[in-house]
Amino acid sequence: MGGLPPIYQRFTNMNNYTNVIKYKFLAPVYDTLIGNRIFVEARRKGFALLEFQPGESILLVGVGTGQDLPLLPDNVRVVGVDISDAMLARAGRIARGRDIKLINMNAEILEFPGETFDTVVLNLILSVVENPQKAMAEAVRVLKRSGKILVFDKFLKKDQSPAIARKLLNSITTLMGTDINRYFEDIARELPVKIIHDTPSIFAGGYRIILLEKI
Ligand SMILES: C[S@@+](CC[C@H](N)C(=O)[O-])C[C@H]1O[C@@H](n2cnc3c(N)ncnc32)[C@H](O)[C@@H]1O
Repeated sequence: MGGLPPIYQRFTNMNNYTNVIKYKFLAPVYDTLIGNRIFVEARRKGFALLEFQPGESILLVGVGTGQDLPLLPDNVRVVGVDISDAMLARAGRIARGRDIKLINMNAEILEFPGETFDTVVLNLILSVVENPQKAMAEAVRVLKRSGKILVFDKFLKKDQSPAIARKLLNSITTLMGTDINRYFEDIARELPVKIIHDTPSIFAGGYRIILLEKI
């Protein structure tokens, strides 16, 4: 870490630093790649599992270009964090005029006190951060007791070991900013959460929609 410019010293490691670079290049094309109807519909199904109360506080970790923002009601307070200013700038356009705060922050070191949020959303972020266990633990820490965590992401199935072709593909997707060979069960292990919903989603269940409750 000593070699990194001071602004990046709060990044826990090199991959989170390289994510800043990767997502600077991905930002202009991200919505074209991931904003299609298939993804929008999948996101919508995830949010349909949450029953938002007026005034409740929601944290979007790795908010990206803000694709989740239009799916949230107007009467909630939203904070979106991301490590990439380029992605945040795009989210800013969608957030304009709404009660939405956008902050540059590392998902692995959330700068909020414990039990701050009613709901935390982790859409397409656990496959991206360097240390997903740390990001998950932080999401749980800042969540109020009985609060919900929504996850929409790609994971290996519990008993699935990645074939060689998938491992090769993973080296390419990782270069582009996402790891396709992670197990959700490893990421959430030993945290005070229970799974209350876990359903296969798009790409033949390669993506999943998972809802957790803090216990
Ligand atoms: C695949 S995009 C997902 C964006 C958004 N959640 C969505 O569903 O479209 C991953 C996002 O995570 C951000 N990111 C990567 N590493 C991060 C980190 N350590 N902390 C916070 N955000 C990070 C990237 O900048 C990018 O915006």
